[in-house]
Amino acid sequence: MSKIKKTVQALQNIAQEPSLLNLVLNDKEVRKKEFLKKYPHLETLPQISLLDLNKDFDESIDICFLDGASLPTDLALLKILAKGKNSYFEIGTWRGESVWNVAKVIDDCTTLNLSKEEIVALGIDKKYAELHGIVSKKNQDILHLEGNSKVFDFRGLDKKYDLIFIDGDHSYEMVKNDTEKVFGNLIHENSIVVWHDYAFNPEKIRYEVFQGILDGMPSNFHENLYHVQNSLCAVFMKGNFKTKKFQSLNEPEFLFEVNLKIKK
Ligand SMILES: C[S@@+](CC[C@H](N)C(=O)[O-])C[C@H]1O[C@@H](n2cnc3c(N)ncnc32)[C@H](O)[C@@H]1O
Repeated sequence: MSKIKKTVQALQNIAQEPSLLNLVLNDKEVRKKEFLKKYPHLETLPQISLLDLNKDFDESIDICFLDGASLPTDLALLKILAKGKNSYFEIGTWRGESVWNVAKVIDDCTTLNLSKEEIVALGIDKKYAELHGIVSKKNQDILHLEGNSKVFDFRGLDKKYDLIFIDGDHSYEMVKNDTEKVFGNLIHENSIVVWHDYAFNPEKIRYEVFQGILDGMPSNFHENLYHVQNSLCAVFMKGNFKTKKFQSLNEPEFLFEVNLKIKK
């Protein structure tokens, strides 16, 4: 059964029997408990502030504010990390908002996604399939690759990338797969790797994804992982950074100024 069909069926069941919601909520707790059995010392990643990554933080980004999008802070983070880098690779294009924003900083950008045919074959809405790349394909310099990251020939790319964004299927198995593929084929000594959906929101960790990240990479690299505050992203990067311990309820340290302008 496809993910979408499962979701529809689950929602119908919950409407008839609201107490079933507890099962869903408990499942997150089950995931956390499983995680802590394997990684008791790593309940959360150390956090880095966007201001410590870029003391003059002032980014503008393009965003659709539609379903399945990254947060504005996630997109701004990618742009900050892209500065001074020459190549970008991402798994998971969707409308192409992330690669579109990074392409304002890096000329050499590649994005990989399931093909339209494969999405439709999974039983997912044809319209959803057709909307892939609707933003990023307006930039002809962005290389759009089609393939399933489970079987895609990453080695065949024969290339290492400066900045990599993993934002495809967010199940444990696929985050682990994508992480293994990236660390096995695409990184060089100073590559930066960013995972989307390390957290459900900036204050709530998504343990299924977190475990996929840790299990998919060499354990001696775990010390180079961070959660960027106010974002949903985990980042692998080498260097010394000012960090603080994650807390699930925070007093805000600053406000973001958001100016909205519609571009046609
Ligand atoms: C969350 S969206 C990506 C959003 C995009 N990175 C952004 O921020 O604008 C995830 C995308 O991953 C794609 N995807 C899911 N499983 C995949 C797989 N196994 N291989 C390649 N792409 C996959 C989906 O089709 C979807 O477009």
